[in-house]
Amino acid sequence: MEGNLIRGLHHITLCTSTAQGDVDFFVKVMGQRFIKRTLFYDGRIPIYHLYFSDADGTPGTVMTTFPMRRTELSGRKGSGQFTAIAYSVPAGSLDFWREHFGRHGIAIVQESERFGEKYLRVVHAGIDFEVVEDPIDLRRPWRSEYVPEQYAVRGFHNWTVTVRELEDMDTFMQSAWYFRKTVEDGRFTRYEAGEGGAGRRIDVRYEPDLRQGTWTLAEGIVHHGAFDVADYDTQARVKFDTEGMGFTDFSDRKNRGYFESVYVRTPGA
Ligand SMILES: [Fe+2]
Repeated sequence: MEGNLIRGLHHITLCTSTAQGDVDFFVKVMGQRFIKRTLFYDGRIPIYHLYFSDADGTPGTVMTTFPMRRTELSGRKGSGQFTAIAYSVPAGSLDFWREHFGRHGIAIVQESERFGEKYLRVVHAGIDFEVVEDPIDLRRPWRSEYVPEQYAVRGFHNWTVTVRELEDMDTFMQSAWYFRKTVEDGRFTRYEAGEGGAGRRIDVRYEPDLRQGTWTLAEGIVHHGAFDVADYDTQARVKFDTEGMGFTDFSDRKNRGYFESVYVRTPGA
């Protein structure tokens, strides 16, 4: 069915600082499972590619990182990027997370509410992360030795994209990516795939005066987000439809080991 070509979020890939820093943050603080380590060979300097997820690498839970420090390339935050990554945690667990971040010496830089949901925000490797309470997210968490199961992250809740122009991103999200616009709150517009809910959401944040951020591989920014489709035929269909709208800077399909992806730049990120 047309509206369900993209099922939701698959993984998000960040340009971070150091491999040890990522293991410390994603495993010991966020309580994810370290599932895979490979090398990324595009470019002159090989860098690690680290993968963190739930027990099984389920789409919508997979965080991947390129620890970039040794390249000495540092990114500029701005519009046209994913600017926050929100993990879903059970209702009533923010008190635990507040203390847990504190025990690890990680400052909470913002406590906020949007769409009636409560968020805590922290920063790792220059990138913003959030935990948000979701009472109806029933995904089973990885049984981490670092975070008790009743508070553990369930996977991604949403990723925020910050844009200077709402209209072009709206067209992309609805007509190319088959997400539905479901709700607005101040500067935020929420888009959902399929039946919606945690792991199927993109929040678009409107910041018309924010300058363009770096979109190459550079420390301190999100490099790309990947979306989940059922099979390669669906992937080809999404690419065909998106190219048909004029978004022609699509890559060929690339084999990334346990999945194969195609890449495209959107109006927003
Ligand atoms: Fe990726």
